[in-house]
Amino acid sequence: MQIGPYALTPRRADLPILTLAPMAGVGNWVYRLICARLGAQIVGVEFINCRTIGTASRKSEWQLDFSDAALYEETGISLLAAQIYGNDIDLIAAGAREFERRGAQIVDINFGCSVPQILRRGSGAAYLRDLDRLYEAVYATVQAVNVPVTVKTRIGWDDADINILEVVRRCEEAGAQAIAIHARTVVQKYKGSAAWEWIARAKEAAQIPVIGNGDVFSVEDARRMQSETDCDGVMIGRAAMANPWIFSGRDGASLSECIDLALEQLEYMAQYKGERVGVMETRKHLALYFKHLPRSSQMRQRLLTSDSLAELVDLLKEWKDHTPLPHDRSDLVLTQREADALAWGGNG
Ligand SMILES: Cc1cc2nc3c(=O)[nH]c(=O)nc-3n(C[C@H](O)[C@H](O)[C@H](O)COP(=O)(O)O)c2cc1C
Repeated sequence: MQIGPYALTPRRADLPILTLAPMAGVGNWVYRLICARLGAQIVGVEFINCRTIGTASRKSEWQLDFSDAALYEETGISLLAAQIYGNDIDLIAAGAREFERRGAQIVDINFGCSVPQILRRGSGAAYLRDLDRLYEAVYATVQAVNVPVTVKTRIGWDDADINILEVVRRCEEAGAQAIAIHARTVVQKYKGSAAWEWIARAKEAAQIPVIGNGDVFSVEDARRMQSETDCDGVMIGRAAMANPWIFSGRDGASLSECIDLALEQLEYMAQYKGERVGVMETRKHLALYFKHLPRSSQMRQRLLTSDSLAELVDLLKEWKDHTPLPHDRSDLVLTQREADALAWGGNG
């Protein structure tokens, strides 16, 4: 897959090119780095409102911290795709310039968000109802930066208005270098299943790379999406939250690996965002990494309620040291499908 100057080939012959989906509240540098190390070839930054980019808030500084990009640049293990959204095209273009200045290797525009407040303001997937505006936003952004501009979108507004083929054409004309397609309509949000056949049709029509997205919960799903649609890459969201090992072609990890990852993530997040926020934001991952624990178990209660980094670290270390856990116990291996059972309120 060629995205502007970047030539990407699969990490392994038996895997497609796998990328981490942009996810609000998830795609910070700690998690991006974890996924990149495990094999995600593009890592998505959570979407950033074009209006907040100039503001000096702590949140916006965290969001705009693309310091991991330097490491990707140096090692070539991944590419950082920073995502922008908004309803003001000049601000999108200006924001894209700021992303580039801060090291983003790709600027991605969000035309897929289906959250009502965002749609009401004419942002996210609202652009799917006005393709001239969508074209202008892509064109202005492409003109504003030197790095490649990509787009992430859905297949259309609703079943009666699936316009992804037209969207692909307009994005290409405006200079986009790739398009990621979450194969659901806006009205669908997360209901039903992703209609991969639209990824296949878009790929057939497209001149630029098409990255398929939606309902990939296992390594086998990723392979199947590629073989059924011929897409150039496979983007993974929810499944990666529960199992970042999916990027190395594994449908889960042993308990001891989960504990090691949890420890690392907690420690980095606490350093990065401070103990309170860092621990709080890592909780959703802990709940997923250790979802095999019965709801009533004391370990689960403590893992998901403690605010103290030291307590969590002790707890996890003790667990690892004192529980004789063979690596191959299937009941202790996380499965990707379980992630699907969770009710996400995602933005894309
Ligand atoms: C918690 C969460 C946050 C999300 N935030 C974003 C976002 O900021 N930008 C975006 O384009 N999509 C966002 N999405 C949508 C995902 O990128 C992806 O398109 C969607 O989850 C479908 O892929 P999946 O089936 O692999 O999860 C989000 C999804 C989730 C679950």
